[in-house]
Amino acid sequence: IAPIIRSVAELRQLTDGWHRAGDTIGAVPTMGALHDGHLSLVAAAKERCDRVIVTIFVNPRQFNSREDYEKYPRTEHDDARKLERFAVDAIFVPDGDEMYPQGFATGVSVSGLTDVLCGAHRPGHFDGVATVVTKLLLQTAADRAFFGEKDWQQLQVVRRLVADLNIPVEIVGCPTIREIDGLAMSSRNLLLSDRARARAAALNEALEEMAEGLRGGRAAQDLRPAAEARLSAAGFTEVEYLDLRANDDLSLLERPERPARLLVAAWLAGVRLIDNIAV
Ligand code: PAJ
Repeated sequence: IAPIIRSVAELRQLTDGWHRAGDTIGAVPTMGALHDGHLSLVAAAKERCDRVIVTIFVNPRQFNSREDYEKYPRTEHDDARKLERFAVDAIFVPDGDEMYPQGFATGVSVSGLTDVLCGAHRPGHFDGVATVVTKLLLQTAADRAFFGEKDWQQLQVVRRLVADLNIPVEIVGCPTIREIDGLAMSSRNLLLSDRARARAAALNEALEEMAEGLRGGRAAQDLRPAAEARLSAAGFTEVEYLDLRANDDLSLLERPERPARLLVAAWLAGVRLIDNIAV
């Protein structure tokens, strides 16, 4: 059974010992409520690193409202159980004061990449993500850290900050794990009613349909109305964005003339869902 570590000092003792022994360390940062998407990152880390640390911290700085933060699922006991079969080396679960002690005054902010998509709709969100990810990478002393393509923009932001701040870690992106009906796994899916859950697959269907049109040579702006109509027919109330963008710098495209992804954020029954696919 993996030890649950709650302090940075205790974690540092472990990681120092591992590095002295020549072991590589893999980190999997999460906010808990673990599902098979998270667990696929853990499996990738186990495969590629001698030691694996899963971090669980519901980061208050990346939420846009108190209510959203408070209703975020917290299932530490179940999470630890789900990690048993992977034999990870440590589960790091700091509390709020350990992560942001009295007097905490430093933030990491990535410009440009965070002006669009989720960044445009969630002010301050990526500052919170960039700050906590920087801390988690330094706290875990990771040689490799594993992030999901599910949060494509987040993955690009993390790659950028690691390059810009010369953090000596390799960022590994892992494919999105989906439910049978195509819905991307997410801790937020737990917040959907049965009725809303049954209709949520329309999000991925709309992306697939639009990608098909793009592959047939049509422009994003011509395909968007039909995709939005499909979402609204399924009960989605607001589409925040439904964009074709370049993989790495997230610039807006009309056609996939460079490696590109279709990205969407939309609200269903009071829950904000995101997804993206390669085109
Ligand atoms: P969280 O939403 O818990 O996600 C943790 C990691 O799991 C992220 O890298 C995310 O992209 C990945 N993930 C989530 N759903 C996935 C799926 N269906 N398939 C593959 N990977 C998936 O993202 C965060 O937490 C936070 O912002 C964090 C990076 C931990 C910083 O607080």
